[in-house]
Amino acid sequence: MTDQRPLKTYAAIVKSLALIIPLSSFQSAPQQGEHRSVAEMYNQNNLGAYCLFAGNFINFGFWEHPVQTGTISIDQRIESQKNLYRLVIKKLQVTEADKLLEVSCGLGVGSSLVMTEFNPKEIHGIDISQAQISRAKKINSEMLQKYPTRIFLNVGAAEAIPYCPESFEKIFSIEAAQHFENLERFVEEVNRVLKPGGSLAIATFFGTSNESHALLSTTIPTIRDGIDRARPIYEFEEILKRNGFTNIKTENIGKNVWHGFDQWVAQGDLSKSWTRNWYKCYQKGFIDYFLITADKPERSPFRDWILYD
Ligand SMILES: C[S@@+](CC[C@H](N)C(=O)[O-])C[C@H]1O[C@@H](n2cnc3c(N)ncnc32)[C@H](O)[C@@H]1O
Repeated sequence: MTDQRPLKTYAAIVKSLALIIPLSSFQSAPQQGEHRSVAEMYNQNNLGAYCLFAGNFINFGFWEHPVQTGTISIDQRIESQKNLYRLVIKKLQVTEADKLLEVSCGLGVGSSLVMTEFNPKEIHGIDISQAQISRAKKINSEMLQKYPTRIFLNVGAAEAIPYCPESFEKIFSIEAAQHFENLERFVEEVNRVLKPGGSLAIATFFGTSNESHALLSTTIPTIRDGIDRARPIYEFEEILKRNGFTNIKTENIGKNVWHGFDQWVAQGDLSKSWTRNWYKCYQKGFIDYFLITADKPERSPFRDWILYD
């Protein structure tokens, strides 16, 4: 990695950034050794309202067509984030009979989009941040009134999903697994609440090697402070296998994510901020954006019987 500027420099950048936007999470991020929990950060900051995102979505977006700095409209930025949801839900082949769970629904607009465009039987969005869920309930109040028995938004952690075993046909999560403290626990929980024969889809960034996290820590404050993690993608695949998931498919979608997001950042107030290091780290091969799908096997009539000896 060529960019080896000391952390102090980043502290200065982040501080000046905080003058441009009131992103207090990043204001305090440079304090060495200070760890703020992810829930606390999302409780205190309505990230969905910041210029990096738009439309109450909080993801980097999936950009179907090449875009150029200076030409991206807010509508296009919102569309990129909706397209990430559409991509994931299409993979799950959602039907009208499916009960869906969205883990880390953020401001709930993705769950609403899925209800409107894919018409599942039910969708349940959970998020670890109480404040995010309160905001989500306000933002989606019309949808919640229109579908009172089909769309639900509740507080809940990925590592302790507040539902009974075998509650859902399909589970998905968008740009959130990088925050989860314990990926193994998350997969165990998905396995518990998913029906046999059910499917999981995850879209977010992972590291490309064991060194990724350390490499990103030097240029990305949220990685350095443990808000985001760049765990290697193979580790997540191994966790899925260990927990009995089959048909595990990993698709690399980075080329449709990083460039578009960086072009969006480049045309705004944050064009000189560390936020652009995401793209640099992608270009250097340290991280990528992935869409991972996996199935929970059907219950086998042979599995419950013990070999007689
Ligand atoms: C980057 S936002 C993505 C939100 C939404 N999926 C979207 O694309 O707009 C990440 C969300 O994950 C939530 N989150 C982080 N850690 C979590 C955990 N362990 N369990 C549940 N939600 C979590 C945060 O509160 C935040 O709302």
